[in-house]
Amino acid sequence: MKRKNYAILMMLLIVLAMYMATIKMMKTRVIHSPTVTSHFLVDTEVCRMPNVDPFDSSIKSLVKYKNFIKCRGVTPLTFQEGQILRLNMGVINTKYKRQFSYCEYHGINRGNNMDDNKYQYTPHGTIFNKDIVVTEQFIRVKCYDKSHRVIYSNYHAFILQQPTRLQQLKTRFSKHNEENEPRETLNVVMIGVDSVSRLNLIRNMPTTRDYLLRHLGAIELQGYNKVADNTFVNIVPITTGRFVEELPWDEQKRGEPMDKYNFIWKNFSSCGYTTLYAEDYPQTGIFNYLKRGFHVPPADHYYRPFALAVDGDKSVWTTDHHCVGDRFETDMILNYTTEFMKLYNRVPYFGFSFLTRLTHDSISNTASADILYSNMFRDIHNQGLLNNTVLIFFSDHGMRFGAIRKTYIGKLEERLPMMFLVFPKWFYKKYPQITQNLKINQNRLTTPFDIYETLEDILYFTGGVTDDIDVQQRGISLFEEIPVSRTCDHAGILPHWCTCMSQQELSTNDQFYNMSVNYLIDYINQQFVLNNVTDICWPLKLGRTKSVHIIKNNDKLLKFKQSLNDVINRTVSYNEKRVHSTYIFQVAVSLMPGSGEFEAAVRYDETSRNFTMAGDISRINKYGHDSDCVHGSLLRKLCYCK
Ligand SMILES: *[C@@H]1O[C@H](CO)[C@@H](O)[C@H](O)[C@H]1NC(C)=O
Ligand SMILES: *[C@@H]1O[C@H](CO)[C@@H](O)[C@H](O)[C@H]1NC(C)=O
Ligand SMILES: *[C@@H]1O[C@H](CO)[C@@H](O)[C@H](O)[C@H]1NC(C)=O
Ligand SMILES: *[C@@H]1O[C@H](CO)[C@@H](O)[C@H](O)[C@H]1NC(C)=O
Ligand SMILES: *[C@@H]1O[C@H](CO)[C@@H](O)[C@H](O)[C@H]1NC(C)=O
Ligand SMILES: *[C@@H]1O[C@H](CO)[C@@H](O)[C@H](O)[C@H]1NC(C)=O
Ligand SMILES: *[C@@H]1O[C@H](CO)[C@@H](O)[C@H](O)[C@H]1NC(C)=O
Repeated sequence: MKRKNYAILMMLLIVLAMYMATIKMMKTRVIHSPTVTSHFLVDTEVCRMPNVDPFDSSIKSLVKYKNFIKCRGVTPLTFQEGQILRLNMGVINTKYKRQFSYCEYHGINRGNNMDDNKYQYTPHGTIFNKDIVVTEQFIRVKCYDKSHRVIYSNYHAFILQQPTRLQQLKTRFSKHNEENEPRETLNVVMIGVDSVSRLNLIRNMPTTRDYLLRHLGAIELQGYNKVADNTFVNIVPITTGRFVEELPWDEQKRGEPMDKYNFIWKNFSSCGYTTLYAEDYPQTGIFNYLKRGFHVPPADHYYRPFALAVDGDKSVWTTDHHCVGDRFETDMILNYTTEFMKLYNRVPYFGFSFLTRLTHDSISNTASADILYSNMFRDIHNQGLLNNTVLIFFSDHGMRFGAIRKTYIGKLEERLPMMFLVFPKWFYKKYPQITQNLKINQNRLTTPFDIYETLEDILYFTGGVTDDIDVQQRGISLFEEIPVSRTCDHAGILPHWCTCMSQQELSTNDQFYNMSVNYLIDYINQQFVLNNVTDICWPLKLGRTKSVHIIKNNDKLLKFKQSLNDVINRTVSYNEKRVHSTYIFQVAVSLMPGSGEFEAAVRYDETSRNFTMAGDISRINKYGHDSDCVHGSLLRKLCYCK
């Protein structure tokens, strides 16, 4: 009895002591510490890529508008469910009552011709007035009233399996398994969105990014730098491992089709993977804009004839040509891709979808894409479709024109498109070495050529990694650790696309030498004022400047205006007025009294002509009991107690 009371008393005392300690801690001074994170996305000796604020004041006015588009079309009379086309009897009965007569669909196909811009309707239609199993990949539906007037038109794309083709692919896959003995067979689905920089994704597609990072465990390549100007010239490196000029492709000879080149999907196909290729905006197709496209469909499921047919029918488009009836054009392609993944769940597949119309001309439209992509990713994840699939969600480049492109940050983000890779959860566990490399590579300099090498490694998956990667190799698989010594030059990035900043020691008579040192000292002393510790900490003065390094962008990037299909052998002009930039100074000083040694990065903005901190301050010698009079990690580092 007594012992029990004693124990309770002891516990009460302990709780009381903890409570008092908490109160004491709460009473100690509030710390105003800077909220900056790492100031570089890539931070190696030879490449420092600046980590700029997506909402930086210099571009705030250009990016604040978000355009949320809502399809204005009415509820359609027909909708899809797998291979079935259903009639929405509810709508038909309320809207048309007894007037509704029947519907008819016609198939849409490319026909037996070589022209990538041609499509045709099957001459004989199929008439129906209840749900129907569709036997064509692509259809146009019209519904009629009792006086044979058209009351409704719509388009639907299906994924229908072709048994003979599947048999052929099965044979190829067995052969691939025997010959190459891949340790895993992973499907690949690439979903590209035109002109979305990583920064614009952060600003305008936060739900999608969050879903990728938090739910899907995506690898985000933060140092992913484009290697050429526009869509075509960046997609070719991803899908062939070469520059356009190396295909070789002659820009002047636009009559040549693209069939003969070794696109990576051909390799997947010849190893037995079923393929899909889908793009929304047929006029600007990657391989069609000012080009001939493909004489033979490049994939088993090729969306183009359908895209052309829908695009050509003005009657079905609504909402500024972003929607077909009440469906987003983007959503139609995403659903098509989802159907593909669903139907081929048990056999290997490779899909490539690329969406242009919604995002190509507007950074603010990207906001309406957020819900579409995040829904799709949630959908395929919840259906278990990512368990055996590598999802690559990417862009080709950032916004290439408009007001933002004239700013320093606009120039940077044009060159830094988003790039995410999602592997199945079990894969990360089973291959820890590869996973570790993927994680390291998130903050290394990477390019479209690396994506190509990675796709190749996925196809011929060995599960192993090589230890000595040659830094001279232009493309490096992301399963390997990208060397810290990699420069833009190694990676095939021309100077005007290169976002790596270079570092140089400043001479003592450079105007910025003392300016940056003085800013740092002022900043430190200001912390004493802000935290009300001037009565207990000495004000600090310069003892000695150990070094000042300037980290800045190359001038070719800052002046670069534009090029067409520049790449390796084309003169480009640097005729634009140089844009204002920011510099980062890495300052190392020893301060008096106390001889505390500090290192910090400060940022100078050429436009506002003032400094800000670019990261945390490091204390590089021991401070022992020097700062016992204060609390909090920042003040402990800085204060020399009186
Ligand atoms: C892909 O196939 C082509 C031949 O079509 C071949 O030359 C190339 O080396 C293959 N690439 C890979 C990555 O296997
Ligand atoms: C896409 O699929 C989802 C569910 O799978 C459906 O809710 C949505 O309406 C479909 N969208 C289109 C445009 O077909
Ligand atoms: C996912 O795939 C792995 C490896 O193929 C398998 O072991 C596991 O059972 C699968 N999980 C689900 C939910 O299908
Ligand atoms: C920079 O500061 C040092 C020490 O305070 C001083 O000796 C030197 O003259 C200054 N240099 C310039 C260029 O202002
Ligand atoms: C600052 O500290 C002094 C002495 O410790 C104290 O008297 C004063 O109230 C404090 N002021 C603020 C604003 O916290
Ligand atoms: C580069 O261009 C020059 C002049 O137009 C030409 O002589 C040369 O052969 C080209 N080099 C390559 C590799 O295409
Ligand atoms: C830096 O410049 C901006 C804009 O000119 C100004 O609002 C701000 O007060 C300046 N900051 C400092 C620390 O001088």
